[in-house]
Amino acid sequence: MPTPDFPDLPAGFRFGTATAAYQIEGAAAEGGRTPSIWDTYCRTPGKVARGETGDVACDHYHRYPEDIALLKELGVQDYRFSTAWPRIRPGGSGPANPEGLDFYDRVVDALLAAGIDPVVTLYHWDLPQELEDAGGWRSRATAERFAEYARITADRLGDRVTRWITLNEPTCTAFVGYAVGRHAPGAREGTPALAAAHHLLLAHGLAARELRASAAARGGTAEVGITLNLDRLLPATGSAADRAAVDRAETLHNRVWLDPLLRGTYPANEAETWGELADGSYRRDGDLDVIGQPLDFLGINFYRPVVLRDAPHDEPDPRRRTAVDIRTEEVRIEGVRHTTMDWPVVPAALTDLLVDLDERYDLPPVYITENGSAEDDRVGPDGVVHDTDRIAYLRDHIAATAAAAEKGVDVRGHFVWSLLDNFEWAYGYDRRFGIVRVDYDTLERTPKDSYRWFRELIRRHAERHGGAAS
Ligand code: FCB
Repeated sequence: MPTPDFPDLPAGFRFGTATAAYQIEGAAAEGGRTPSIWDTYCRTPGKVARGETGDVACDHYHRYPEDIALLKELGVQDYRFSTAWPRIRPGGSGPANPEGLDFYDRVVDALLAAGIDPVVTLYHWDLPQELEDAGGWRSRATAERFAEYARITADRLGDRVTRWITLNEPTCTAFVGYAVGRHAPGAREGTPALAAAHHLLLAHGLAARELRASAAARGGTAEVGITLNLDRLLPATGSAADRAAVDRAETLHNRVWLDPLLRGTYPANEAETWGELADGSYRRDGDLDVIGQPLDFLGINFYRPVVLRDAPHDEPDPRRRTAVDIRTEEVRIEGVRHTTMDWPVVPAALTDLLVDLDERYDLPPVYITENGSAEDDRVGPDGVVHDTDRIAYLRDHIAATAAAAEKGVDVRGHFVWSLLDNFEWAYGYDRRFGIVRVDYDTLERTPKDSYRWFRELIRRHAERHGGAAS
């Protein structure tokens, strides 16, 4: 049966779009903001395509009213954005920056005035550089500084923001940032990357306590979640070696987070996965209690499934090899379309992932906090991007979310990545994920066809089900 043009989601289901501070804000040296590890990384030759930076990005810092007007016109119930730690607490410790807090205050007010609920991510990769210089996520102190920053932010915004996401994709921070070196801070270290993973979990737990305490002090409640990029991992063949490879990858990508968060344990097969690198020296008694406190919701970012085989090394070239080498190699999925990220488009993998994880972990309420595609957008003679591939991608993945809901997974919302074309990390600006085009010369915003499709989906949903319950 072909996917309907406008998939049906359960009543009360929420639609949103997502962005992140460094990818859209710009104004990197304005309003008291100090550099983050991404400002530094972008200035390190050879790290980011064409040496691009987030200095200006989409200039959302100045243009947020226009962007929020676009969201209002779109009709989303939710908007997920991140606050920049170095804007709110420059340098990562010390006094809060009133100008930084004022900025997010204005954003939150403008969203609420537009009838949109803000969903705030506290860490989308922009660690204050000073904290990196003091050890970064390798160091336990960073988790403590993060909890303080969470408290400062919640004390200011928590009277209007109720849903909080502590961290975005800690896999990328810990492993891509500290072991593979393809994200800031660009380190290639073994045990320190595993320590970073642990400290990120601890940061989540400590911050969750602060967010709840801040709300309680006001007589309210906070809903606290974390966003993980959980992978749908499949073995290339049925061989025992390939299955064991997937098992190691499950630990590196999924279990390392889900087991402590949802079961209060560390993954059972750590030794098989990374051998003596996981020496546990960075763990303390009681940490699991902090980490494993109940989640109000789980955010899942999903883009593509991954097929793996057993291999002597993750990366054949020793100069590019990750410091946490789990001896798996990705196998290209043939026979499906690939986006300009070269990611395979397999929407059913999202349903399978959700159903499988729910069986294994009995998941709390889930939001798909990111999902979208980078496409080879062309501006037509009419000045508009007719992005039919992106529409198909979004339609089929939202239908995959609906299928998971039908199979009993408590999935409550789907956020499209992204509202705007933006700074796509090491790829710079040439990977466009937006449903609104950004002309980087003029910073003009132009909704693409996918924006209109999404608006129509939201409209039809409201018509069928009487709008989302708030
Ligand atoms: C995710 C990131 C997000 C964006 C998308 C394409 O890994 O969370 O910032 O770059 O990928």
